[in-house]
Amino acid sequence: MDYQTEQEKFWAGSFGNDYNKRESGEDRLAWKTYLFASILAKTHGVNSVIEFGANIGLNLAAICRLLPTSKLNAIEINSEAVQELKKLDLTSVHEMSILEYAEEKQHDFVFSMGVLIHINPTKLDDIYQRMYDATHKYLCVIEYYNPSPVSINYRGNEEKLFKRDFAGEIMDKFQNLKLVDYGFAYHRDNNFPLDDFNWFLMEKN
Ligand SMILES: C[S@@+](CC[C@H](N)C(=O)[O-])C[C@H]1O[C@@H](n2cnc3c(N)ncnc32)[C@H](O)[C@@H]1O
Repeated sequence: MDYQTEQEKFWAGSFGNDYNKRESGEDRLAWKTYLFASILAKTHGVNSVIEFGANIGLNLAAICRLLPTSKLNAIEINSEAVQELKKLDLTSVHEMSILEYAEEKQHDFVFSMGVLIHINPTKLDDIYQRMYDATHKYLCVIEYYNPSPVSINYRGNEEKLFKRDFAGEIMDKFQNLKLVDYGFAYHRDNNFPLDDFNWFLMEKN
């Protein structure tokens, strides 16, 4: 498969395959269910969802428990992760890079978790547009926040992890997106520890 960036090759290949194996488990599913319950509590009328970079589908499995009648859709670049996604009861699984995703269908809740941080920064503007185009209601980014862009060594790899104010940049680009709420998942939470993610829920007006 031809990809536009080094970062896509990284996730489509053996690093991505190893990541999939680390990510399963009932504990993580429970913590994610808590996280998405907090976010979805701020929304209404979410009947269809699409995740950009869904991995093996733990987020979608958590959302399925909370919104069992909602149509759930995934985009994922790593084929082994896609095999796992296909075992879930999803409406669609798009095996491709989110840099190529261009379906016209819109969804009520479009989100990424831990994915924008791994995208080549030169492609972010393009991804913001694709996520914006894919929603007709909510856009949610659950990523590592930093007030200014920084690149961090990621498990010994350079240029594979970037932090910045993703939501701020999205709201600057699309003036009709308004912040609904935001929050933080703390790795030392007493009951529901997740990586130190910041979440930002925006709504299209
Ligand atoms: C750190 S994991 C996060 C997975 C999932 N969102 C979660 O929260 O558990 C990043 C995921 O995004 C996928 N990914 C990375 N770059 C991608 C791209 N350009 N297109 C589609 N998926 C991508 C990876 O294969 C991996 O499954």
